[in-house]
Amino acid sequence: MMDWTDSPCRVLHRCLTKHARLYTEMVTADAVLHGDRVRLLGFDAFEHPLALQLGGSDPAKLAQAARIAADFGYDEVNLNVGCPSDRVQSGRFGACLMREPNVVADCVAAMRAAVSLPVTVKCRIGVDDQDTEQSLRTLIDACAAAGVSVFAVHARKAWLDGLSPKENRDVPPLDYELVYRVKRERPRLTILVNGGIETLDQAEDHLRHVDGVMLGRAAYQNPVLLADVDARFFGDAPVDLEAAVDAYTEHVERQLACGARLHSLIKPMLGLYNGRPGARLFRRHLSENAARHGAGIAVLREALGFVRERRAA
Ligand SMILES: Cc1cc2nc3c(=O)[nH]c(=O)nc-3n(C[C@H](O)[C@H](O)[C@H](O)COP(=O)(O)O)c2cc1C
Repeated sequence: MMDWTDSPCRVLHRCLTKHARLYTEMVTADAVLHGDRVRLLGFDAFEHPLALQLGGSDPAKLAQAARIAADFGYDEVNLNVGCPSDRVQSGRFGACLMREPNVVADCVAAMRAAVSLPVTVKCRIGVDDQDTEQSLRTLIDACAAAGVSVFAVHARKAWLDGLSPKENRDVPPLDYELVYRVKRERPRLTILVNGGIETLDQAEDHLRHVDGVMLGRAAYQNPVLLADVDARFFGDAPVDLEAAVDAYTEHVERQLACGARLHSLIKPMLGLYNGRPGARLFRRHLSENAARHGAGIAVLREALGFVRERRAA
């Protein structure tokens, strides 16, 4: 998610779940080809398994970007066919490509030919006045014919004409049943459902119908729910929240020593203790102090004191 799932966020999430697959923010193929690659694509080895999400509609550029992703060590390359922003539409990629399934198929075919990594697609169920019964199946079948077998479906339309990107995440109604039907009809494809899933109970319900669940806002705004993912879905040991926070704190300390700013490192932590005693003080202490010049690890440790002392008391 743009501006959210940067490397610090993914490291925090990885401290909370060893098994969930993590995704980068969308990076355009042009940015990969012409931008500062280390800044755009660099990640911590701890983040695996990690997918790079690309945006674009030029098969040759996407193929080259996928090759670069493979060289960087990503585990998967995902093509964005879901983002509704104007900037994205004017570049002819994201959700508007729901109207151009053959272009998407050409893109994923070129990416698959370029790399041995899994190439996957994240899409909507349709855009604007499209008939979603048709648009989702057509997009998926075109990509499947080009060899893609994994699809993450944000189960609502994007209305490109009239709604802001934010509204497009909430206003068009969710149609999970359509995604379930498409999975039932195509049992060999791996279908993940996304959109409006806020709890692991809800995730478990969806898993009766599809192969996977993708969490967006809930994972960012309430990251603590990730601490139950390994035990609940992967048969692994439960993750202790405080041990995970300690592990992330050590990461913060190492990054500060390399010159990173505290402010960007603590951003994904702000929602960690929501609803728990001391959460407001924790957030306020970080918000007020982490951006100060020279702010160091002590600011984070003091903030953690507000939630941990409450627990001990
Ligand atoms: C701040 C923000 C940035 C997002 N950026 C991306 C993105 O880069 N690529 C993408 O596929 N979806 C992006 N999304 C959409 C989410 O991945 C997801 O599809 C959407 O929020 C619905 O799922 P949710 O209800 O679990 O959040 C973004 C969402 C938010 C809130």
